Formats: sequence, structure tokens, C-alpha cells
Amino acid sequence: MKIISTVSELRPALELLRKEEPKRPLVFTATLGCLHKGHESMFSLATKSGGWSAVSIFLNPLQFSDPNDYKIYPSNLEQDLELCKKNQVDLVFAPSKEEFYSQKPLLKMQIPSLTDVLCGLGRKGHFEGVMYIVARLLCLFMPDKALFGKKDYQQYRIICQMVSEFGLPIEIQSVETVREDDGLAFSSRNLLLSPKAREAAGLIYRSLKMGKKAVDEGERDLSLVSEIVRDIILSNSLNRIDYVDTVEEKTLRPLKMLEKKTEKTKETTRFLLAVAVFCENTRLIDNIECSSS
Ligand code: PAF
Repeated sequence: MKIISTVSELRPALELLRKEEPKRPLVFTATLGCLHKGHESMFSLATKSGGWSAVSIFLNPLQFSDPNDYKIYPSNLEQDLELCKKNQVDLVFAPSKEEFYSQKPLLKMQIPSLTDVLCGLGRKGHFEGVMYIVARLLCLFMPDKALFGKKDYQQYRIICQMVSEFGLPIEIQSVETVREDDGLAFSSRNLLLSPKAREAAGLIYRSLKMGKKAVDEGERDLSLVSEIVRDIILSNSLNRIDYVDTVEEKTLRPLKMLEKKTEKTKETTRFLLAVAVFCENTRLIDNIECSSS
């Protein structure tokens, strides 16, 4: 496994990979580090697809609207590199902040209809920072395919839109959320949970499943579905809700009522039931895909 920390070393290393096996696709996974089973599932997808597996590990300060959140975000490069090696990653790019931001970034990117909803409301500038780093990483790596987890569904949609508008020849593939036994989505932030908050966090996915169940059983009023989710999450007093929302899957436009299916409107509406919850002080996000039956 090649470990690279500078942009000037990265370019020739990627060229070498491409020369070695020109037909072998380059599959890229961007990470903030503190890798877990969710990341491992992406690395294993890359390897199983027969591609070169390339990974970036960079705790991007630009996407943290709260400096304290950046300070406490867990990181452990040594452990991350071990995990990459174990998962047959071929190349890791782990630059320092000084290396990657040697020039002060001036470029600002937004897609208001996608960035100013859900997590964009409470985390001002977050998606600007995400788009900036992902655009730079994609331009550097120019992979054939890039993988993004569905837990960060809004991020995935924003990146799809950005890549499509730039016309980059990169396939953006979403990867299923990996969960703990009680359904809690793997996240680096789970390490910040106290034992009591960890227990409270188990309610997040349970509430989403109950919300989806209500839809599957015919509930069309999505504000009532959100109520079900809220009630379950708030049944533990350590939880505080940032948002519970239902949005159309592609556009992320709010969706509050499912139309009754008639002969005319036979189409299925696909939407996302998404939440952000503070379990004690740790903000966790999750979502579940739903559709009108
Ligand atoms: O999802 C993440 O871990 C980050 O937002 C990403 C895509 C690595 C960009 O820093």
C-alpha cells in the first residue's frame, strides 16, 4: 500500500497505477479519517469491483462550521492506515492541513436548492466546505468511480449534481449504510457518545423504521410520520432533535403529503425520511428511503 502526503507525490503515483494496468478502474473513497465499518464496506466494494482502491484521509477544517466540533472530531491516522492495509487499499493520500491548504481557498460553491435544506440549515457553510474539498480531490484523483455513503445522503446528492454540472467523467456510486446491532449507523462521531448517550442513540434508527412502517401501512400525511419519529427519539430525555424532515429523493424538496394514487397518478413517489439528533452533545444524522405504495 502506497502512503502519500503531498500533492506533488500523488500525481506521479496515480500515473504509475494507470500505466501499470491501464484498463483497471480507479475507485476512490474520500474520508475524514477515524475509519470504521462503514468505510470498510466501501473499501471492500472497490476491491471486489476489481479496481485500484484509492482513499483520502483528511480532516477538512473547511466543512466544520463550529471550530470546537473540528477540535473534538476523533482521529487516529496510524489505526486508519492499518485498517486500509487490512482492506487491501492500494493508495492512501493523507495530506496535512498546511499541505492541502497552502493557498487560502477563495472559491465558494453552492447549490442552494440542495445545500440550504436539512443539514445545511443548522450547519452554515458545511456543504460549501464539502463541495470544495470533494471537487479538489476528484480533480486530483480523476477516478473512474467515487463512492459515497448513504448515511450522508444529502452530501451524496450534492456531489452527484456537482459532478453532473461539471461534466466530470466520474461515476458517483452510493453505498448502503452499515449499522451496529441496534441499528445505529456507524459514524466516527459514535466514539464521542457517553454510554448513556449511546443507548439513547439506538432510538434513531428504530424511529426511522417505525416512520417507514407507517408509510408502508398507508399513512400519506408525512407530518404525522415525522411526529411518530419525533416521539420515539424524544422518549429518551438525552435526545434533542435538530430536524426530522421528509424530502423528495432527488431534488430534496420538502414533501409533506403523499398523493392518493389514482388512475392518472400511478407513479411511485420516492422520498427520504431524514433526521439529525443531538444525543447529549453529539450530533448524529441518519435517514431511511421510503416510497408511496
Ligand atoms: O463524508 C465525509 O466523510 C466527508 O464529508 C468527505 C466526503 C470525506 C469530505 O471531506
